[in-house]
Amino acid sequence: MTTGRQLMSTLTADGTLTLALEEKDFPQPTGNQVLVKMEAAPINPSDLFLMVTGADLENADYSPGKIVAKVHPQIAANQASRHGKPQTVGNEGAGTVIAAGEGEMAQALMGQRVSCVPGNAFSEYAIAEAMMCLPLGDHSSEEGASSFVNPLTALGFVETAKREGHDAIIHAAAASNLGQMLNRICQEDGLALVNIVRKEEQATLLKDQGASHVVNSSDDDFERQLAEAISDTGAYLGYDPIGGGQTTDTCLRAMERVAASKMTEYSRYGSDQAKKMYIYGRLDLSPTILTPTYGFGWTVSGWLLMPFLASCDIPTMMGLRQRVASGLKTTFASSYKERVGLEEMLTKDAIMDYSQMKTGEKYLVMPHG
Ligand SMILES: NC(=O)c1ccc[n+]([C@@H]2O[C@H](COP(=O)([O-])OP(=O)(O)OC[C@H]3O[C@@H](n4cnc5c(N)ncnc54)[C@H](OP(=O)(O)O)[C@@H]3O)[C@@H](O)[C@H]2O)c1
Repeated sequence: MTTGRQLMSTLTADGTLTLALEEKDFPQPTGNQVLVKMEAAPINPSDLFLMVTGADLENADYSPGKIVAKVHPQIAANQASRHGKPQTVGNEGAGTVIAAGEGEMAQALMGQRVSCVPGNAFSEYAIAEAMMCLPLGDHSSEEGASSFVNPLTALGFVETAKREGHDAIIHAAAASNLGQMLNRICQEDGLALVNIVRKEEQATLLKDQGASHVVNSSDDDFERQLAEAISDTGAYLGYDPIGGGQTTDTCLRAMERVAASKMTEYSRYGSDQAKKMYIYGRLDLSPTILTPTYGFGWTVSGWLLMPFLASCDIPTMMGLRQRVASGLKTTFASSYKERVGLEEMLTKDAIMDYSQMKTGEKYLVMPHG
């Protein structure tokens, strides 16, 4: 039995959120499980959902290894299914396999540095499925820490686009860690990409990384620029991680504007161009606003990594993982603003900073650091 600290997030029905490090016993792994000594794990927006959503961090109670905060009543009520059920946090990370089950796949990983998706990566140790581990070879744990969620999602967007017959896509909040990967993948694969950002420095960042179409939603003529980029590329499929507000709506309107401009005859039903937006995140928790003035050929859908992976056959899945492994220092490289230990991640300064999810300001947790 191995003992170590791991982060737990508990929300109770009265709207009290507790983030606390707890001692836990990690059993000897069995079958094709491995026990990983966690060395590096990124704090991603999906982890933050369990850690900070609706929480009053400014007025929270901070003590070593623990934060107790009040959550906005409506947001607490929306999460009723987790009330009183402590949640582990940290989707992904990397470390060294220190024990393995008797299964062949697990045994093959013994002693190796791997990236993994244990769901409790903000922990000194984690049990992971060997099948989901990626051997890192000479790469450090830091280089491999973010090798699952964002790389496979960005590749998944391209794969989804190809499956649906598209050779151009729109991406919102495009300067994110994921967006920068998508920008590099699209250039490698010859897919046209329309990047939407909200700040000039984000436009510069993407252009410096070779982006050909970047539009800034803060510009007065944003909608005109967006329509022009759609016209240039033929992008009638988009991915929106903002979710709340009108980003998806604006993209559909711009798509229709371009499609309608190419019609030779007027139709009261609008164009027959199929237009689709996938919402794949909730950076903005406000309601999604749609003003369907884009004909009838439009679809808004959700997109999530795990169902996408489940839709892939084994050779496709292996191909995607292999591509990530060979591009860890290039296409799929991540950068971090700060490295923090488990206790440090629960200080006011740290959490107030990383919970803002700003471009290029991701934190990396070093559980033994
Ligand atoms: N569905 C899935 O399976 C899946 C998988 C992976 C990731 N995701 C989602 O992908 C998104 C990006 O993840 P990441 O790790 O790449 O993020 P990240 O590197 O932390 O970057 C977050 C980006 O979002 C921008 N942003 C934050 N709040 C915003 C808002 N209200 N409106 C517009 N832009 C906003 C930030 O720009 P500023 O600097 O301007 O604030 C920044 O560029 C997240 O929403 C995450 O949940 C979803």
